[in-house]
Amino acid sequence: MERPEIITIDGPAGAGKSTLAKEIAKRFGYFYLDSGALYRAIGYACKLKGINLEDQEEVFNCAKSLNLKLENGQVLLNGKDVSSEIRTPEAGLLASKVAKHPKVRELIIKLLRKEAKGKRVVIDGRDAGTYIFPQAQLKIFLTASPQERARRRYKELISRGFKVSYEEVLKEIKERDKLDKKRKTAPLKIPKGALVIDTTGKGIEDVIKTLIPIIDP
Ligand code: CDP
Repeated sequence: MERPEIITIDGPAGAGKSTLAKEIAKRFGYFYLDSGALYRAIGYACKLKGINLEDQEEVFNCAKSLNLKLENGQVLLNGKDVSSEIRTPEAGLLASKVAKHPKVRELIIKLLRKEAKGKRVVIDGRDAGTYIFPQAQLKIFLTASPQERARRRYKELISRGFKVSYEEVLKEIKERDKLDKKRKTAPLKIPKGALVIDTTGKGIEDVIKTLIPIIDP
């Protein structure tokens, strides 16, 4: 059997999508597309410009004017690496707010499809297997309990020097889950044919072990 050309990983915040995507990229030579980083960068840029995030036209015009690029798991906004600025809990919520606008999603989807042309890609997000690449040969849906996801995100933020409390992180994750699941355009859901993996109590190695025979048969 051939290796999958496209691997999609969807799921809620903190389920381990980016850790898994980076590991797959490294071990099996895939190009990593971090779709959430683009929504985060747009939310961050719109906030800096004082744009009303509820106004689709304003957000779309701002997004269109930006030069966004994904490189080796980093995101470049008008040539500047903003990877660390966009990882705050605030940027996560800003991302969810701009991501509900269909015109903004259309723009990002085009960019991601263009970026993926001619490459073997692993992409993580909310609609990677349902809307962006419905033809993907391997679709994964990662999930874990909200408490476990908040614990992971809390540890990650603390280790990167952010001053946050576990309760704050849990609240932000739950709020984002709600926004992402109930929005009209491309809500978070399990793609048809996806392999569902609950990572509660599982480390990355356990998940990779399950996937090796599928990715590298
Ligand atoms: O890493 P985490 O799962 O916390 O977030 P992310 O993947 O960086 O995505 C941030 C936010 O962007 C999500 O909460 C979604 O609202 C939005 N997003 C989306 O709508 N569609 C995607 N394909 C990726 C992210």
